[in-house]
Amino acid sequence: MTSRNFSIETIGIVGTGAMGRGIAQIAALAGLTVRLYDTNPAAIGAARDYLAETFAKLTAKGKLDQARSLAALANVSGAQSIGELAGCDLVVEAIVEKLDVKQALFRELETVVSGNCVLASNTSSLSITAIAAGCSDPSRVVGYHFFNPVPLMKVVEVIDGLRSDPAAGDALMDLARRMGHTPVRAKDMPGFIVNHAGRGMNTEGLRVAGEGVASFADIDRIMREQAGFRLGPFELLDLTARVSHPVMESIYHQFYEEPRFTPSPITGTRLAGGLIGRKTGEGFYLYEEGKQQVPAEAPAPTGLPASVWVSKRYPQAHDAVVQLIEKAGVKLDDGATPAANSLIVVTPFGHDATTAAVDEALDASRVVAIDALFPLVGAQRRTLMTTPATRRAARDTAHALFAADGVPVTVIRDSTGFVAQRVVATIVNIGCDIAQKQIATPDDIDLAVTLGLGYPRGPLALGDALGSTTILAILRNMFSVLGDPRYRPSPWLARRAQLGLSLTQRDAADTETQTLETRQ
Ligand SMILES: NC(=O)c1ccc[n+]([C@@H]2O[C@H](COP(=O)([O-])OP(=O)(O)OC[C@H]3O[C@@H](n4cnc5c(N)ncnc54)[C@H](O)[C@@H]3O)[C@@H](O)[C@H]2O)c1
Repeated sequence: MTSRNFSIETIGIVGTGAMGRGIAQIAALAGLTVRLYDTNPAAIGAARDYLAETFAKLTAKGKLDQARSLAALANVSGAQSIGELAGCDLVVEAIVEKLDVKQALFRELETVVSGNCVLASNTSSLSITAIAAGCSDPSRVVGYHFFNPVPLMKVVEVIDGLRSDPAAGDALMDLARRMGHTPVRAKDMPGFIVNHAGRGMNTEGLRVAGEGVASFADIDRIMREQAGFRLGPFELLDLTARVSHPVMESIYHQFYEEPRFTPSPITGTRLAGGLIGRKTGEGFYLYEEGKQQVPAEAPAPTGLPASVWVSKRYPQAHDAVVQLIEKAGVKLDDGATPAANSLIVVTPFGHDATTAAVDEALDASRVVAIDALFPLVGAQRRTLMTTPATRRAARDTAHALFAADGVPVTVIRDSTGFVAQRVVATIVNIGCDIAQKQIATPDDIDLAVTLGLGYPRGPLALGDALGSTTILAILRNMFSVLGDPRYRPSPWLARRAQLGLSLTQRDAADTETQTLETRQ
């Protein structure tokens, strides 16, 4: 296959709904000539009106100067028929998400456009190779996956199908930059990067809730305030409403029932009942006049424990817990084993409180576990969990102790990996597996996730920051307690953690210039 030189100045957009008009907006503002086509003629007019209004609003806010606004609008015209897209250098389709309809459109476009026109699909769930399979020249078919709303979500996935000419993808990468977007390059695999990496937060959040560990609001609070994410899984699910459950099911089936992506009956039942979030006023939260109603937290109890014994199994976590105990002015029981009446604190990673208690032969009725994955000192929130045998006095005095400096504390039921540990480890593990599958480069995985999902760090950088050996230990312990292959560590993670390499590092042999001496 000889690579062609694609140069893009005129872009056709087929399907002028939510996505099509967003793509038209950034293309017109970048100075491209834009032609809009939709089988529903009213949708073309509506898209032009929307663009005129948007440009006028941006001008009124001082974000766009008048001349540029007028020029951008003049760049956009409607096409009465698909034949009017003849002069386009690129056609992006953003029509209905159905393989046969997209294939038929691309076949028709092939009879209209020149041999050097790139045909791009904004599909989020269909295979680019499959869409291209209907074309006589599949080499010019590429995925161009934008996110909603396009002008604000400044990342786009460029997806090479099995027969795509890399030069066509390169041209879309350049064009994305020209339109002010950050392009990332991905292989044609289900979910590409962002919708694939996004499975960790919501499926594991649903697992935690499904095991009765904590309420939806508590899980969200922990993920936001302890783990530092902008939104917790249930706030996010309430925003993505109708599409989230089918997307979870689709990715799970496309990967042949991969346990890492197992969906939950919780969202299936809610979708069937119409409890899908903001749009219906009721989801995981209630919405009154569009405002999310968050159930208030009960105040922390006040009675402190007389003395506290802390497990020394994880020395760093032990020292952090001791600092909090000393700060609260509570007596530390420093014995080799706990004294008869001491509160017992354990700091498991990937184990539940029960396993931690049994492993160290501790009295489970006095055991409370604290999640030490994120720094405990200076925390925004702390999580405690109890064994099924933990007595109320132990639970409540531990709660009072770890809330004594004013930091809110969430008490959950026993869970392998609390909430933050297991959700974060799942996110890192899935990110690692995307790298292992060579779907994208480590840099592009992290970039796509930070820009596309709004996570504070990409999954690989997050794993490095928290310690890849710790994440590996969490997953291995979860896997050993539960026996669920969902938690098997990705080889990418396991190998790099064992070798002390960054999770963002590709194989050295692929990146290094030759440094070993070689025989001539
Ligand atoms: N909405 C999102 O959040 C989002 C995000 C990323 C990707 N996508 C993908 O983008 C595509 C469009 O999604 P949307 O949300 O903009 O849909 P939409 O329903 O808002 O708009 C689709 C438009 O396509 C038109 N259309 C349907 N069939 C057509 C055909 N055969 N020829 C020409 N026009 C046709 C419809 O009249 C409609 O105006 C889908 O493939 C979707 O999976 C959507």
